[in-house]
Amino acid sequence: MAEKFNSTDLTEKELASQLKKPSGEQGKEVGKQMNKGNKYICLNSYKCLAPSPNSNILEIGMGNGYFIKDLLALNTNLRYVGLDFSQTMIDEATKLNQAFIESGQVSFINGSIEKLPFEDNSMDCITTTNTIYFWPNLEANVKELFRVLKPKGKLLIGYRSQELMDKISFTKHNFEKHTQQEIELLLKTTGFQKVSTEIIAEPELDFDGVPLVMEGLFTTGEK
Ligand SMILES: C[S@@+](CC[C@H](N)C(=O)[O-])C[C@H]1O[C@@H](n2cnc3c(N)ncnc32)[C@H](O)[C@@H]1O
Repeated sequence: MAEKFNSTDLTEKELASQLKKPSGEQGKEVGKQMNKGNKYICLNSYKCLAPSPNSNILEIGMGNGYFIKDLLALNTNLRYVGLDFSQTMIDEATKLNQAFIESGQVSFINGSIEKLPFEDNSMDCITTTNTIYFWPNLEANVKELFRVLKPKGKLLIGYRSQELMDKISFTKHNFEKHTQQEIELLLKTTGFQKVSTEIIAEPELDFDGVPLVMEGLFTTGEK
């Protein structure tokens, strides 16, 4: 039996809204659901990011941050900042990552991709998974990521393709869908080099009785 993406009783509109910006008790529940439904795409994003030792990593929209432990296990002396505009997700991520916060390896900031509270050329890597559907202005937002990355720094965007998302009913609310070609062009026109996309197949997921073969797209670029 395929894993269910959603076991809450939210309407499609409510679910889409909570996926965009989880809030309150429902938001916490949706955060837990995402850890099941998005497990493979989240873990594969981190594997494709493949951070070098001593990297400082910014993640935009980490949700409740359940998989940060798996990112930190990929190499030695990684430092991580998670930025999300949902205070509910910041609070959940803080609870789940308390030991890493106390050791100084992890921190969280409430903020939006539109204006990042970081200096130019300050991050080795930026990763973001399942957020590009909600960016308010693709061109301006990716420029902001470019600004914050160090020269030779790596950006990774993990997402579901427009073709797959069109089969998922709730994405008619709130979601802007994008093709691989659109995302690659976006990165190239911003000035990223070595732009490429890896596609990784995942087990089936059940969307309200409709089983779908899932895959994640991972587009990367170097500043
Ligand atoms: C669908 S969830 C994805 C969570 C996790 N990355 C995953 O794949 O399971 C989207 C996350 O991005 C955050 N988000 C959406 N738009 C954002 C923005 N403009 N700036 C910062 N965070 C944003 C939401 O609050 C939410 O935590």
